[in-house]
Amino acid sequence: MKSAIYPGSFDPCTYGHLNIIQRAAQLTDKLVVAVMRNSDKAPLFSVEERVELLQHAIDDMNLSENIEVVSGDGLLAEFARGLDICVIIKGIRDAGDLQYEQQMALVNQAINPELTTVLLPADIKWVHFSSRLFKEVAHYGGNVAHFAPNYVVQAVEHKMK
Ligand code: PNS
Repeated sequence: MKSAIYPGSFDPCTYGHLNIIQRAAQLTDKLVVAVMRNSDKAPLFSVEERVELLQHAIDDMNLSENIEVVSGDGLLAEFARGLDICVIIKGIRDAGDLQYEQQMALVNQAINPELTTVLLPADIKWVHFSSRLFKEVAHYGGNVAHFAPNYVVQAVEHKMK
């Protein structure tokens, strides 16, 4: 694969996201990780903060060579068209994710017929992780050290104070 885009809310990124990024970067010459808006979600972090946390994680994993972290506005299908990218990569953890992602893939393709979505199954190690549960456990003062790298955990705990 030449170029692909991995979009998401990443509010904030977890080890589950970072695992998908690592694997997707091995499949592509260039991977664009795009922080986008999900109109169903009220984010904890600003777009800029989410980009910064992702960039930090990617630098730490020594993956910066073929990965670019960006923020995107509007429709993903149009955003990808503007970047001349026709492959979307998403991670799926379970049947619920599959149903949701299949629907989004079809809508994105209807908007931009050149687009193909590739779904990567989540690694078994991170299959129970989500940004939502990360924030919920942190909200109640639980230990979230296993959800993400230290600086992401600190950023979440700081926001919760
Ligand atoms: O991490 P998420 O919240 O599952 O990511 C969803 C995201 C941000 C990729 C999706 O909401 C999206 O593509 N947003 C941009 C607006 C858009 O194109 N919506 C229609 C999707 S079919």
